[in-house]
Amino acid sequence: MIPINAPQIDEEEIEAVINVLKSGILTNALGKGPMVQKFEENFAKFIKAKHALAVNNGTAALHMAVVGAGVKQGDEVILPSFTFVATAEAVVMAGAKPVFVDINPETYNISPEAVERAITKKTKAIIAVDLYGSPADMKPIREIADKHGLKIVEDAAQAHGALYHGKPVGAYADFACWSFYASKNMTTGEGGMVTTNNDEFAEKLRLLRNHGEKEKYMSIMLGHNYRMPEIEAAIGCVQLNKLPNFIEERRKNADRLTVKLSKIEQLKPPEEPKNCKNSWYLYTVRLKNANRTKRDTIVEQLKNKGIGAEVYYPHPIHLMPYYNRFRKRRLPETEKASEQVFSLPVHPGVTVGQIDFISETLSHLTK
Ligand SMILES: Cc1ncc(COP(=O)(O)O)c(C=O)c1O
Repeated sequence: MIPINAPQIDEEEIEAVINVLKSGILTNALGKGPMVQKFEENFAKFIKAKHALAVNNGTAALHMAVVGAGVKQGDEVILPSFTFVATAEAVVMAGAKPVFVDINPETYNISPEAVERAITKKTKAIIAVDLYGSPADMKPIREIADKHGLKIVEDAAQAHGALYHGKPVGAYADFACWSFYASKNMTTGEGGMVTTNNDEFAEKLRLLRNHGEKEKYMSIMLGHNYRMPEIEAAIGCVQLNKLPNFIEERRKNADRLTVKLSKIEQLKPPEEPKNCKNSWYLYTVRLKNANRTKRDTIVEQLKNKGIGAEVYYPHPIHLMPYYNRFRKRRLPETEKASEQVFSLPVHPGVTVGQIDFISETLSHLTK
């Protein structure tokens, strides 16, 4: 099976972990973990952000950012429904109400017009997601946020290495949240990061990450244990150095696949938004005019041929049993996309021969 994504690990990561174990320093609890500090410095430099705070997963990063943005009980937060459920979890965990809005059907990312239409007196923040590693259209979203005095959290969990108008994604948000889950473009097994350019926000995030402790055993606010262990940070430092090459390999595979799949009438290959560079975390095609059954059949047939195609995401969040209670409006483009899209492997472990096999198989299956 050619998996949809696979961690790219070699001796360098193994050695980094062994070195941490030998050092005897396993945690950054007292703010003195050398690997966490190094990973944060390097990541901030890579993302061109002033502050980077490592945490134990991307969901924790989102929760911290939403709380850090000042979102409280009774507030509303506008976000897409076409994303991984963690984006919405963060809002509910903060005691606020998620207000789901529709996507642009070309990019699958949140529609700025839909965001503006959904603003009420209770709106406090907007979460934009760089879905599949394709940058959300942040300039108009920043303008809307500034006009209405709202904060922006960018869920960049899938977008390490993606560029928006020449800058790493996250540049137009108050907070950007990253995940280093095992399938991601770079991994620490589990892990996450929040980046921000604002000193006050960074200070608040530091407290939220560590039990609200200003000093040892002195909590001044409600916090959590969202710390990243030293072992993960050591892996992260190695993976971050390799990330540009990983992205290059993904891009080569994506470009080759697009040339081939463009010849298949029934498929709409993904496009990079204008002035953007995707991270190609997921290469997602649309089966034109298809319903769910037809799409699912193709995915099943691909799997039977050893191609690990997957659907991201088959169920929009507003239609899930728990989140149904927050449903306010129909989201036709979101619902349509969830029935027609599927993703194909382009990770750095996929060979040119496998890319050709994927396109030939699809060409056959869509005849
Ligand atoms: C868009 C998106 N948001 C949030 C997350 C949550 O990250 P994690 O799994 O590290 O908690 C993920 C990844 O799993 C994701 O893809």
